[in-house]
This record gives sequence, C-alpha cells and structure tokens, in this order.
Amino acid sequence: MDRTESAASSPMTALGLIGRLLMARGRNRADLCYEFMGTRNCPTTDSTYLNLGYWRDTNDYRQAAEAMVDLLGHAAAIGEGDTVVDAGCGFGDQDVRLAQTRNAVRIHGVNITESQIAHARLHNAHPRVTYHVASATALPFEDGSIDKVVSLEAAFHFDTRETFLREAFRVLRPGGRLAVIDLVPLERNGRPQTGGLRGALERWASQTPGANVYGITRYGEILRATGYVDGQLRSIAPDVLPPYVAFMHKLLADPDQASRFHPMIRKAMQHPNNPFASSDYILVTAAKPASA
Ligand SMILES: C[S@@+](CC[C@H](N)C(=O)[O-])C[C@H]1O[C@@H](n2cnc3c(N)ncnc32)[C@H](O)[C@@H]1O
Repeated sequence: MDRTESAASSPMTALGLIGRLLMARGRNRADLCYEFMGTRNCPTTDSTYLNLGYWRDTNDYRQAAEAMVDLLGHAAAIGEGDTVVDAGCGFGDQDVRLAQTRNAVRIHGVNITESQIAHARLHNAHPRVTYHVASATALPFEDGSIDKVVSLEAAFHFDTRETFLREAFRVLRPGGRLAVIDLVPLERNGRPQTGGLRGALERWASQTPGANVYGITRYGEILRATGYVDGQLRSIAPDVLPPYVAFMHKLLADPDQASRFHPMIRKAMQHPNNPFASSDYILVTAAKPASA
C-alpha cells in the first residue's frame, strides 16, 4: 500500500498554516503542524513512523525507527498483562509494534492530531490497541489505572511537558513506570542552548512551548518534584541525531524522494547549519512510588 496517499495527506498550504498559527494567539496548536505535514513528509513511504531512528545497529530508516520503539518498550519494561498509555502516538505504527513485541494487554495511543488518529485507525488497527483523540496534558483515564506511560519524541510539544508528567503520575498505578524519549536543548556549562532567534522561530513553527525549553538537569528536577522515584536520564543523541541528518541529506539528494517533501521541510533539513546543533535527544525513565 502506498501510505503517502492516505487520508492524512496534507491539504493545508504553508500560508494557511502560518495564518492559523497566528490566529491561535499563543494557544498551542501542534496539531496544525502535523495536519500540515500529513503523511507525505514521513521519512519513508513504507511506514508512517516520524521518530528520528536509533541507528546503532542499522543504516535502514525503518529498522532504526523500530529500534527506537523497541528501546522505549524495553525502558518502560512493558510486559504481558500491562495496560499502556502512549502519549503522542503519531500514526500508530509504534503502538502496533509495541503490541506485537511486548505482548501488552492494552495499548492506548493518545494524539491531539485528529487526522493522524484517523490514519492510525485505518492503517494501524490492532485488537489490543485503542486510539484516542486527546491531549497528553488531560489524559482520559482514571487515577491509578495504567501500568506504563510512554511517549516517543512528542513531549517537547506538550503544553506543558510538566503538566504531562503530572498527568502521567496521576494515571499510573503505584509502582507504575514512565519512559519518555524526548528532544531537549543541549546543555553547555549547565545552561540550555536555546538557539537564539532561529531557535525561537523554529519553536514557534513547530509549536514547542517556551515553558519546555530546559535541558536534562532541570528535567530530572521536575521528575523528582512531581513525585517520581528512580529517575534516570541519559543522552542517546550520538546514535540518533548525526545518523538521522546524514540519512535525510542522502534521501533529499534523490530528486524523486525530495519531490514528495514540502519545500519548507526540505529547506529546513538541507540548511547548511545542522538543524539539531543545539539539541539533545534523551531517554528518561522513572517510577511512581509503590506506596503512592
Ligand atoms: C514528532 S511526532 C512523533 C509521533 C510518533 N511518536 C512517532 O515517533 O512517530 C509528535 C507527535 O505528538 C503529537 N502531539 C503534539 N502535542 C500533543 C498533545 N498535547 N497531546 C497528544 N499528542 C500530541 C503530534 O500530533 C505528533 O503525533
């Protein structure tokens, strides 16, 4: 099946997107960015993964994207019988992968972008996966009802990430686990690199709230303040960012491939300055105390 032709292919123009973001007057509309991207701007046409890939043992995008999901499932220790929430589930490929590889009893894929959920329900249906149009900052689940909460490359959009971490804590059962793979500013001499004006523009264009602009150190502090224990945060950037940039450069050098990407997205990826020069890419795990 050619997934670039799915119902989620983007009808929105760049001007339409900019107009609608301006009209939103500061209200977070990450959903509009993803409506705009549709499925045409996914790295490959044989899946609708959006993650940047974990390239340690492969140079194939699909395998790298799946390795990233496997890393997340392993970090959350998802096992048989678990009920899992996946916050920011994209087009659902990762939820089917988690259901198949980790044998969870139920996976709830949560996403604010309606067209992505429509695509997931159509192309990534699975008997143990349920998709919800909802925000990670207002999860539609009872207190203490979930074994594992995961999020893959999405929490930087949430308004705010801290609100999501509190929501995850609320829905987790005592002893439940959190695993988040996230993009944060790189820290240099203890300070997050914000990328100046270009960084601010990119955050606006990608609907990344200013409140989420902190590095790995503050991230750990927020986890502790929220009540999580056993927090572990580590950078996996070397196995993600340089190989992804190299992959995209090679992909976009092929005119047939390049033509399916929106020129704005193509230009951002082909910019001579590495688009991730000020970014870190981290794996975060923590637990809700068994006594909570
Ligand atoms: C970079 S994409 C990653 C998607 C998917 N995890 C993947 O790796 O293929 C970020 C995702 O977060 C979703 N998202 C953004 N804000 C959200 C929110 N407040 N609640 C739930 N999902 C959100 C977007 O719709 C998008 O699917």
